Amino acid sequence: MSPVHSILFALAASTVSTFAIPILQPTDVLRLDAHGSFQLSVFSDLHFGEAQDTLWGPEQDINSAKVITSVLNAEPNAALAILNGDLITGENTFLHNSTKYLDSVVAPLVKHGMSWASTYGNHDSDFNLSREGIFAEESKYPLSRTRKMVSASDAGVSNYYLPVYGNASAVPEFLLWFFDSRGGNYFQQKSAAGNSVPQPNWVAQSVVNWFTQTRSALEKNHNRIIPSVAFVHIPVNAMAAFQATGVNKKREPGINDDNPLAQQGSASGQGDVSGTTFSYNGQDIPFMQALLDTKGLKAVFSGHDHGDDWCFRWTSKLKGMNLTGNGIDLCFDRRSGYGGYGSWTRGSRQVVLQKDKEEVETWVRMEDGSVSGKVTLNGTYGQDSYPAVRS
Ligand SMILES: *[C@@H]1O[C@H](CO)[C@@H](O)[C@H](O)[C@H]1NC(C)=O
Ligand SMILES: *[C@@H]1O[C@H](CO)[C@@H](O)[C@H](O)[C@H]1NC(C)=O
Ligand SMILES: *[C@@H]1O[C@H](CO)[C@@H](O)[C@H](O)[C@H]1NC(C)=O
Ligand SMILES: *[C@@H]1O[C@H](CO)[C@@H](O)[C@H](O)[C@H]1NC(C)=O
Ligand SMILES: *[C@@H]1O[C@H](CO)[C@@H](O)[C@H](O)[C@H]1NC(C)=O
Repeated sequence: MSPVHSILFALAASTVSTFAIPILQPTDVLRLDAHGSFQLSVFSDLHFGEAQDTLWGPEQDINSAKVITSVLNAEPNAALAILNGDLITGENTFLHNSTKYLDSVVAPLVKHGMSWASTYGNHDSDFNLSREGIFAEESKYPLSRTRKMVSASDAGVSNYYLPVYGNASAVPEFLLWFFDSRGGNYFQQKSAAGNSVPQPNWVAQSVVNWFTQTRSALEKNHNRIIPSVAFVHIPVNAMAAFQATGVNKKREPGINDDNPLAQQGSASGQGDVSGTTFSYNGQDIPFMQALLDTKGLKAVFSGHDHGDDWCFRWTSKLKGMNLTGNGIDLCFDRRSGYGGYGSWTRGSRQVVLQKDKEEVETWVRMEDGSVSGKVTLNGTYGQDSYPAVRS
């Protein structure tokens, strides 16, 4: 609990016997529902704050907010919203009010009484916008569960985990991991030539170290492996390596229009900030290795590539890689926002975790209320045949 939350909590506790005050409740721990389920609604690539000097800029932010509201109305069991990166389009924002867009991003969640947890994306850092600034703005909301658990200067911000409990509070039933894949440009920095200064766009080694140590400590403290899922904005190289082998539209149903996709360490492809100069050189190998070494980690969810929303099971040594998959599922979210590139129907990936069950249910809830790409990430995912989705 942050000091602000403690104060609000104390305030709420001291006044609760006299009258109910309509202040935001402090965030309590996350719990499974009465059926032992936990549903997440993932909103990815919202891209607020574009072209505010035009009519369509503010209008697309209104439309993005409507996506959040209509999805949450259609998914009454959702217990937590995930904002999986690119909340704001930093290159379009002004220094004096760039973080204010965060208030518009979370307004539909606050109205719904829905708590949320964020990762930040490459567009959340630019000359006029910093992820630290977004984090400070988010932290004003008791409904925000976003944290910063790694203080190394190169770590980025949104690196943390959240436990999900059953009825007992001693041992979490699930862990939700959040990683910062950084990217974009450094805040208020220009090169000698007057250009923006790009920030590395992969999960930092300092974060990998924190992850492996924290995971081991949790396992040791609880004397068991806690099942988990993870969120990171930019996908890892295994997704690109798999895509190159061919995404099967029945076995991995979903749109596959960003091909080749943009991944960690690579600035080629769509969705990257112009002027970024990184090229792929295995920068995400330590992170992928750490994911593979994490017992109980079921799936990793990424955004960034607006035109892809499939899930694949990484079971083998894919061409061009030295790492061998262990059966982990790597999934794309569905792009939710009206900002950014592409005109695919907006939607939100839903993820259902179930106590004592290996399998994860997931589908995309579209803005228009329809459901797309519903699959069960169970023992035969990758072999089962599903209806292909319309693109
Ligand atoms: C928690 O306890 C309640 C009340 O006893 C019960 O209805 C519910 O099923 C329990 N939930 C879980 C996940 O065990
Ligand atoms: C940053 O914001 C300032 C004013 O707040 C504006 O004058 C400037 O053009 C912006 N710079 C960039 C690169 O967007
Ligand atoms: C930020 O400032 C710009 C220019 O002054 C304005 O057009 C825009 O609406 C402001 N945005 C917010 C979220 O306050
Ligand atoms: C795979 O391992 C070999 C031998 O260590 C190394 O030369 C090569 O660069 C590695 N390839 C990748 C893609 O990591
Ligand atoms: C996995 O789920 C699919 C779709 O519901 C089903 O057809 C398949 O039989 C399941 N596999 C296992 C091992 O339960």
